[in-house]
Amino acid sequence: MSRDPFRVLAVPGSLRSGSLNRRLLEAVAEQAPEDVEVTLFEGLGDLPHFNEDLDTRPGPAAVEDLRARMHGVDGILIATPEYNSSIPGVLKNALDWASRPYGTGPLVGRPVAVVGVSPSAFGAVWSAAEVRKVLTASGARVVETELGVKKANTLLDDAGRFADGDTVAAALGLITGLREVAAEAAAEAAADSAVA
Ligand SMILES: Cc1cc2nc3c(=O)[nH]c(=O)nc-3n(C[C@H](O)[C@H](O)[C@H](O)COP(=O)(O)O)c2cc1C
Repeated sequence: MSRDPFRVLAVPGSLRSGSLNRRLLEAVAEQAPEDVEVTLFEGLGDLPHFNEDLDTRPGPAAVEDLRARMHGVDGILIATPEYNSSIPGVLKNALDWASRPYGTGPLVGRPVAVVGVSPSAFGAVWSAAEVRKVLTASGARVVETELGVKKANTLLDDAGRFADGDTVAAALGLITGLREVAAEAAAEAAADSAVA
C-alpha cells in the first residue's frame, strides 16, 4: 500500500537568478527521499509590498497563491540569504503576508525549517535565527536545528549545482526535522481529540 508523500514547499529568500539559496533547495528537491515531494516556490517576486490596506479577504492574487501553497503542504523549508546581518526584505515581506489572517494564516501550527546560505564564512546564521524568530511569532512549529552553509560559492560543481554531499545531506536532515515536528503535532491532535 503506498502512502501519501510528505509534501514540502521550499522557499528561497532570494530573487537572484544565480541564487545559492535556490540552488541548495534545487539539490534538496532532486535528492529528497522517494516519499517526500519538494516543490520550489517561485513567486516571491510577485508579492506586493505588505500593506494592511491590501490585506483584504481575499487578498491580492499572488498573496492568496502563497497562502494556498503553504496551506497545501506538510512542511516548509526556507533557505535564506543574509543582508546586512538580517533577513532580506523580500523574504520578510512574504512572511508578513503569510502571518495573516492572524491566528488562521498558513504559518499557524505548520512545521517550518530554516537554512542560511552565504558565500561568507558565517553561513547567514544571524539571518536564519531572525527568520526562526519571525516564524515563532507567527505561530509556526519551528524546527530548532541551526544550519548555516558557509562559503557556499565554493560548493558548486561546474554546472552550478550544489555538489557538496555533506551540505545537501544536512539540508535533507531538516526535512527529517519537519517530519518529526509534524508527527509531534499529529500526536498532540490525537491526544486532544481523545480527551474531548
Ligand atoms: C545588500 C547586501 C548585504 C549583504 N550582507 C551580507 C551579510 O550581512 N552577511 C553575509 O553573509 N552576506 C551578506 N551579503 C552577501 C550575500 O550573502 C550574497 O550576495 C549571497 O549570495 C546572497 O544569497 P543568494 O546567492 O541566494 O542570492 C550581502 C549582499 C547584499 C547584496
